[in-house]
Amino acid sequence: MKSFIYHFVIIASLSLFMISCVKANSDDKYVEGNIKITQKEFTETLRNLPPDIKENILKDRAVFLSYIERLIIISDQDNNFIFFPVDKTRNLSDKFTPSDLKELDKEGFSVNKKGMQLRANAITALKEMNADATANIIELLVSSAFRSYEYQKNLYNYYISIHGKEKADKYSALPGASQHQLGTVVDFGSITLAFQDTPEGKWIKENGWKYGFSLSYPLNYEEETGYNYEPWHYRYITKEGALVEKVFFNGLQYLFLNYLAEYESFFLDRLQIKN
Ligand code: DAL
Ligand code: ZN
Repeated sequence: MKSFIYHFVIIASLSLFMISCVKANSDDKYVEGNIKITQKEFTETLRNLPPDIKENILKDRAVFLSYIERLIIISDQDNNFIFFPVDKTRNLSDKFTPSDLKELDKEGFSVNKKGMQLRANAITALKEMNADATANIIELLVSSAFRSYEYQKNLYNYYISIHGKEKADKYSALPGASQHQLGTVVDFGSITLAFQDTPEGKWIKENGWKYGFSLSYPLNYEEETGYNYEPWHYRYITKEGALVEKVFFNGLQYLFLNYLAEYESFFLDRLQIKN
């Protein structure tokens, strides 16, 4: 009996030792790809994400990191805050105006007022989306696009004068805090909740990501985004960005952009091949 216990203890200790070696080894192992990061460091970047999202990313870590590589390169070359999470805590300066704004009137879109502008990349994506929508007998109407800091200031003050600050803060951003200042945001259709049930609203919700458009203020995430649900407000975050957001972040823009903002420079520092 004594010898049995002795052997059992030896075998159990050896097994535990081997398990801990395997674990240490896998923690120290680098994730495959051009971003030089160990499994442990990578897992650490995911610590604040909801468990289902974290698990999903870990399952496909090499693919995820190959997309992140592409995104940080795009971001590094953009200079116009393509992935910057403009929100109630992170604002744009009153001096910021995107460098490549173009007028929508000249591009053949349906617009509800003249003179609206978007960045060139958002226009290209919108053109492609509009062509496919038209082919499906869907007519997209652009109701709001780029808004300057000054324009947003007047708009916000106007809303405060009608509804008071508490209510206005739930649907209007302060100057500097509006994604519209990025020149990559479009408000579609009626700018009312009824838009979600229109053929256009349903079509964009289903297909927008294929062209790089992402819903900024989804239903049931009012606390997280700081704003009421806005089924009409879409931000262009590139096709690659919208794909990563959809596949790995359950389509939640605030989670995706926050993650990227937090780890972008860390990943860029670890990138082996820069182009
Ligand atoms: N309606 C959104 C939050 C804005 O004002 O930018
Ligand atoms: Zn909007």
